[in-house]
Amino acid sequence: MDLRKFIDIARDAGELYDIRKTVDPVRELGAVLNACERAGKGALFHSVKGYDIPVTGALLSSQKRIALALGCEVSEVGARMAAATQKPIKPQAHQGAAPCQEVKVKSPDLGAWPIPTHSPLDPAPFVTAGVVIARDPQSGRHNLSYNRMQIHGRDRAGISMNIWRHIKAFFDRLEPQGKNLPFCVAIGPDPVVMMAGAFRYDGDEYEVAGSLRGAPIAVVRATTCDVMVPATAEIIIEGEVLAGERQMEGPMAEFTGHYSGADPKHVARITAITHRAQPIFQTMNGGGYEHVSLGNMITREPLLERFVRHISPRVKAVHLPPYAAGFTAIVALDNPEPGEAKNVALAAMAAHVNFKTVIVVDADVDIFDPADVLWALATRTRWDHGFAAVPGAHGNELDPSCDEHGIVTKVIIDATLPAEKRARYLKVAYPAVDLKNYL
Ligand SMILES: Cc1cc2nc3c(=O)[nH]c(=O)nc-3n(C[C@H](O)[C@H](O)[C@H](O)COP(=O)(O)O)c2cc1C
Repeated sequence: MDLRKFIDIARDAGELYDIRKTVDPVRELGAVLNACERAGKGALFHSVKGYDIPVTGALLSSQKRIALALGCEVSEVGARMAAATQKPIKPQAHQGAAPCQEVKVKSPDLGAWPIPTHSPLDPAPFVTAGVVIARDPQSGRHNLSYNRMQIHGRDRAGISMNIWRHIKAFFDRLEPQGKNLPFCVAIGPDPVVMMAGAFRYDGDEYEVAGSLRGAPIAVVRATTCDVMVPATAEIIIEGEVLAGERQMEGPMAEFTGHYSGADPKHVARITAITHRAQPIFQTMNGGGYEHVSLGNMITREPLLERFVRHISPRVKAVHLPPYAAGFTAIVALDNPEPGEAKNVALAAMAAHVNFKTVIVVDADVDIFDPADVLWALATRTRWDHGFAAVPGAHGNELDPSCDEHGIVTKVIIDATLPAEKRARYLKVAYPAVDLKNYL
């Protein structure tokens, strides 16, 4: 699987809008991408003003397209993610000439690429969907991650590495010796490489991508550094994070749907760019559904499921909706025993520090439909005893409702009907129809 094949698969499944009207990469492309994403589609922009390179985005912003990329059913995505770190598959050297090195640009110019300035307050173009590949200076293992890059100049970009990231730990070991950290950015790789980039895993993260694909990821050595890159990616940016350099970066649309501040951030020098002939650039809107799906949903839903199934055999489904920044966990229970919804909610809350609101509903509620969940909240929650608040808990520092130490009040909500009311209050549910047959 490569990006081109995946675009074809998404299009054939009715999951992609082909945008043929010319769009401006400065704030227009991001707005149209946002509209596509909210309409449930990925996008391929065939004509980007000032460039001869198409741009794609929002490809992995829905469970359906994630399942298409994995070649499985939507209902199997959670199990595939849970298994990804259990059965790692080592990468393999690509045989023959690597597609990602069909064209080698030795004097790179980031300005030659249609890198969008996505949202209204972004101060500059940002590389957002590139998977950053760096090696642990001690073990040599490859780490995959997302580290947005604000374009500062022809061969200069910021690189955002927050304190919890493996890549930051690698750099922190080199910088005191005055050494730079070599890295590469893969734009438009096999979608499983993008999924693996979202994992927090201590081993070689190409093995996670291989496990998701069920086959080794083909890699090739970069042209200016000792980093292996995905051979079928559309574009590879090669560079090094510079010791002792910082430059102001931001604000930028964060996963919470709010802007980050502007801060001094690390700086990278770009040493080469290689790409396929007629490359496709890939991007992602900061704070959009794809950002949250990758960063806060696919790797955490299996964790949530493990915690709640540990204490209840009646769990029907779990979900971390991408429209709630990964802060809200929803669990559906099949005929819970008295008190069970509360126990399940407490278990769910413990599964991840980011979970701030847990909503437990009955199995007749479609937890993937926000309207159905709000309906359950509105009609079934007994707010006198179906609700509990936990003040003073640790949350995510980027959540605007946290205090300056990341402390927040968390809540659990039991929106299930009590057993004695189930027979009396049956849900009005119509059979599903395909409107195409009636229009
Ligand atoms: C779309 C997306 C964008 C992200 N942007 C950044 C970023 O700019 N800086 C950062 O430090 N982390 C960012 N993250 C988080 C990390 O890349 C991600 O959690 C990764 O798994 C880090 O794992 P690692 O410590 O194993 O490298 C982003 C995550 C996603 C999914």
